[in-house]
Amino acid sequence: TMLLDYQNRRLRFGLDGKVCLAEFVSAREEPCYLYDLRHFTQRYRHFQETFADLPHMIHYAVKANAHPTFLRRVVELGGGADVVSGGELQRALEAGVPPERIIFSGVGKSHAELRLAISLGIKQINIESVGELRRIIALAETLDRPARVAFRFNPSVDAETHPYIATGFRSHKFGIDAEAVMACLALAAEARQWVRIVGISLHIGSQILDVGNFAEALRNTRPLAAALREQGFPLSTLDVGGGFGIHYDTGDESRELTNFAHYTEVIRQGTQGLADEILFEPGRFLVARCGVLLARVEYVKTTPYKTFVIVNTGMHHLIRPALYQARHRILPVVLHSERVSRVDVVGPLCESSDFLAQDIELPEVHEGDWLAIADAGAYARSMASEYNLHPFPDEQFIA
Ligand code: LLP
Repeated sequence: TMLLDYQNRRLRFGLDGKVCLAEFVSAREEPCYLYDLRHFTQRYRHFQETFADLPHMIHYAVKANAHPTFLRRVVELGGGADVVSGGELQRALEAGVPPERIIFSGVGKSHAELRLAISLGIKQINIESVGELRRIIALAETLDRPARVAFRFNPSVDAETHPYIATGFRSHKFGIDAEAVMACLALAAEARQWVRIVGISLHIGSQILDVGNFAEALRNTRPLAAALREQGFPLSTLDVGGGFGIHYDTGDESRELTNFAHYTEVIRQGTQGLADEILFEPGRFLVARCGVLLARVEYVKTTPYKTFVIVNTGMHHLIRPALYQARHRILPVVLHSERVSRVDVVGPLCESSDFLAQDIELPEVHEGDWLAIADAGAYARSMASEYNLHPFPDEQFIA
């Protein structure tokens, strides 16, 4: 099924072409994120059912999109959350995620954040340095609450993705290597009553389409898992992180679902016999597709060099094109003609990085027309700012 599809030259959005976007925007002036919760649910179920025979837990990566509606749905579906800050932890709790279904990741957890996590007794804290382990042991003792900890292992995999979102290579700030894990074990052994080593976590990056990268990470993890077992720390959990990518270049999801099937095979084989429970932290795969960012054309500005379609949204509401050279498809909400021209789609902000697309072929559009920017469910609103004091766009769900 196509989430975005034309019917009589009008763009429809949602599973089974639920909403006519021209109707949806007719009374609107400001940009808006529009989400299809059914599609999110379908993706989640697909993920869950694929791994039905594997003892596992899905911890939705809250950073991808922290809207409470998604979080509540995850809870209803039996899932949990992966959080990376006190703010996300609070948001997950408010949405009803039980602490025993929350994982806390990130390299820079503060005293206050760790105190909150430990006193709540969350499922596990994925630690990324020896210093963090020391801090956790001290806090657990003060709070008189033991903490469950997993080592975020850096498997030194040079994943094929944009350099800003690759995280699993040895030169990255993320994770710790096998030697540092061993150093941590000595500390943990001395403080057994305050810290329980429950597992290993991995997250090698985001928007990864080559499943071989995941296979390599898991291969590199095996010796460490064996070493931990030998030292008397068998893995209760193996957290394989998130990172599985989507095909932004097309609205046809079949290719990525086929690739997802390959991913599931890699995970199945790569995790065999390693831990009692496999944890996942997917973000983008679950939520990217189910959102569009709707924007109105303010001006079409032609210069001797270029044509600029100036819209009322920009990098403040979707920074991915500016930051990662990401290409999100842009579709007119009403198709006037088949004629296309080469344009840049830009926002109102006062800098040249403020573009949504450069040098793309766009069907004819005029002032007052609306555009749909595809696949804006993940890392769009969650990375948005009020730069230039434009308010955050509304977020709506189709009924
Ligand atoms: N787990 C951890 C520890 C992570 O750091 C992330 C994402 C995820 C899970 C979820 O990854 P996903 O399944 O969504 O790929 N802003 C960038 C993406 C940054 C991802 C950061 N970490 C973008 O817009 O492409």
